[in-house]
Amino acid sequence: MGYKIAVAGATGNVGREMLNILSERGFPADEVVALASSRSLNTEVSFGDKTLKVKNLENYDFSDTDICLMSAGGAVSLKWSPKIGAQGCVVIDNSSAWRYDADVPLIVPEVNPDAITGFSKRNIIANPNCSTAQLVVALKPLHDVARIKRIVVSTYQSVSGAGKDGMDELFNQTRAVFVADPIESKKFTKRIAFNVIPHIDVFMEDGYTKEEWKVLAETKKMLDPKIKVTCTAVRVPVFIGHSESVNIEFESEMTAEQAREILREAPGCLVIDKHENGGYVTPYESAGEDATYISRIREDATVEHGLNIWVVSDNLRKGAALNAIQIAELLVARGLIKAKKQAA
Ligand SMILES: NC(=O)c1ccc[n+]([C@@H]2O[C@H](COP(=O)([O-])OP(=O)(O)OC[C@H]3O[C@@H](n4cnc5c(N)ncnc54)[C@H](OP(=O)(O)O)[C@@H]3O)[C@@H](O)[C@H]2O)c1
Repeated sequence: MGYKIAVAGATGNVGREMLNILSERGFPADEVVALASSRSLNTEVSFGDKTLKVKNLENYDFSDTDICLMSAGGAVSLKWSPKIGAQGCVVIDNSSAWRYDADVPLIVPEVNPDAITGFSKRNIIANPNCSTAQLVVALKPLHDVARIKRIVVSTYQSVSGAGKDGMDELFNQTRAVFVADPIESKKFTKRIAFNVIPHIDVFMEDGYTKEEWKVLAETKKMLDPKIKVTCTAVRVPVFIGHSESVNIEFESEMTAEQAREILREAPGCLVIDKHENGGYVTPYESAGEDATYISRIREDATVEHGLNIWVVSDNLRKGAALNAIQIAELLVARGLIKAKKQAA
């Protein structure tokens, strides 16, 4: 007997990708239920070669559901995740609502799988922010060898990170530029078509944005609280795939060749690093793929033990849906969850 899985936010960018990945990876599910808001009631979403009719999250009874993959935003998660967890259904949440709660593990399976045992306090597990997920996949194997002291991260984040409305806005503005229609900005604070915007999420008191703070707080929670992190997060007119330029300062020596060898063997990482035209990965090529790609590995001679790397991944997959499903697979592989129907 397999598990009963609910995907909450099934009509969204991440939810649709979750349904694709559950099917692609043959997750041991007997039943998959698609949930969203009342706006989407009875619309259809694809799951493998089937279609599922969307049900309303508000009226759904989770008492016979084993895992809820939640990607319906922070406010919905704050309201519903504790109620769902209290019905004995483990919530794997994609929003930032629970990530910094000491009683909620924040997990990237390649990085801190052992932290998952803490999930039973609230029956909630948090998935990191998309930029942090790919970042820590690339940093962990290097940190294990030469201990990272400090990182400077600059992100180049695609519009799909802002949901389906973000993708629509880039499409509509691009079209409007070509046909000389007026440009409307609703989702982003400035025009995104043929532009870049150094502002993601809200401003904090110290002048950083919440997105930049998330990279800092989540890297510390998952990898090592001693690592110093500074970040500039930028939205770019790319549909799918986040890129990051990362400057790393280690405690001990880490040559570019050593880093290449370590990352070639590391789980979830794929090194594409040829010093020639096109010998690196761009976000366009990462879309639809599972790997975290690392390119442009080179030493930074301006500090002792410095390295620069370029990290690219599909934000809807490793940055969200894939990571959430890997967490569900970890629960199953470690025997931390029993199918309710089997147990009954
Ligand atoms: N996109 C990324 O790269 C990424 C990465 C990591 C984490 N996340 C997080 O994942 C979550 C979803 O992101 P997304 O990009 O998929 O957003 P999205 O494309 O805007 O989709 C939002 C989903 O939430 C549903 N929803 C909204 N309000 C609801 C309510 N009151 N009750 C039930 N369902 C409701 C929507 O259903 P309707 O269609 O019925 O409105 C839709 O299915 C967010 O918390 C986001 O921060 C996203």
